[in-house]
Amino acid sequence: MNAIRQWFRERLPISPDQVFEVLDEPVPNHLKRWWFCLGGTPAYLFVVQIVTGILLAFYYQPAQTTAYESVRFITNEAAYGWYFRGVHKWAATLMIAAVVLHQMRVYFTGAYRKPREINWMIGVCLLLCTLGIGFTGYSLVYEQLSYWGATVAANICDTIPVVGGLAKRMLLAGETYNSETVSRFFILHAAVLPATMICLLAIHIGLIRMQGITEFHFEDEPPQKQAHYPFFPDHFYTELIMGLVLMILLSVLATALPATMGPRADPLVTPDVIKPEWFFYATFRWLKLFSGTFAVLSMGFVVFIMFAWPFIDAWIRRHTRFAEASVWIGIVGASLIIGLTVWEAAVQH
Ligand code: HEM
Repeated sequence: MNAIRQWFRERLPISPDQVFEVLDEPVPNHLKRWWFCLGGTPAYLFVVQIVTGILLAFYYQPAQTTAYESVRFITNEAAYGWYFRGVHKWAATLMIAAVVLHQMRVYFTGAYRKPREINWMIGVCLLLCTLGIGFTGYSLVYEQLSYWGATVAANICDTIPVVGGLAKRMLLAGETYNSETVSRFFILHAAVLPATMICLLAIHIGLIRMQGITEFHFEDEPPQKQAHYPFFPDHFYTELIMGLVLMILLSVLATALPATMGPRADPLVTPDVIKPEWFFYATFRWLKLFSGTFAVLSMGFVVFIMFAWPFIDAWIRRHTRFAEASVWIGIVGASLIIGLTVWEAAVQH
């Protein structure tokens, strides 16, 4: 054993103590409350997505003529294909929910304020990438709904002034859905967006490590209580248990509510009802309410406000009496998104 240790020590000039020191970041006590450490949940689910995604990619064939058949093969014939497809699908749903909950926690506790503005903006990029991965993944099955969903999304892009036509052509690899579109979605889904997310996550976690997590103190905690606890093993075990619970939950969901398949895409038959995945319901309802360029530009404006929020909030706090305006704006924004989502879910058209 000592010989092996010595062999590595001579080649890698890093001591185990140094590695341990990097891992053993003191964690503020409030992270024992689960809603404060929700960031670990999307990180874990992202790893699940990568592992199950690689397994699915062994059989998935990203071409218009083969995509649907290969997904059918994975679901019905490949060993445990139904399980890995189900876990991949449910982990995507839970990941989007977890990212949104994590963002809400950061927002409502004001943890985006100075000096964490950059990390908030990196977070918004992570949210957009997560939604992009969800959208492109949905389109890979080449079912009626995913085909027409992608066509509608491309037409929406087309309404953006100046760059709309280019955005549509880049998304579809042409003017309309064609034989190159599925493979383009696959490259975006399995390479471009995950690689971008890995880079963004490295910066996100790196900044958290450098700046530390925002300190909070709660009235029900005695003042003499130790303000921090060690990352390893205490927090590590919490995250490990969280991971095991999530794995059980994903397995139950994949078995009880397995991933199904709709009818194969037919470019000549428009379905009566076109619906995106649930996480785009609010956007879809908004587009139906205010059709055309206004709807698209107003959504772009919302994304811009989200990016710039730490600076807008700082301005409000400095120049007005409404220091807690962010709470009320957040409640109105979240209610609007929930309201539009429920509305879209409840009606057919
Ligand atoms: C894949 C998506 C994401 C992952 C894996 C992730 C991961 C994490 C982790 C592990 C933390 C440490 C504290 C905690 O667990 O809450 C954290 C903190 C933070 N995250 Fe994220 N995050 C993601 C998305 C986002 C989004 C969408 C935003 C906001 C738009 C955001 C903004 C922040 C900020 C500002 C902090 C520092 C919080 C503090 O100091 O208390 N993150 N993130």
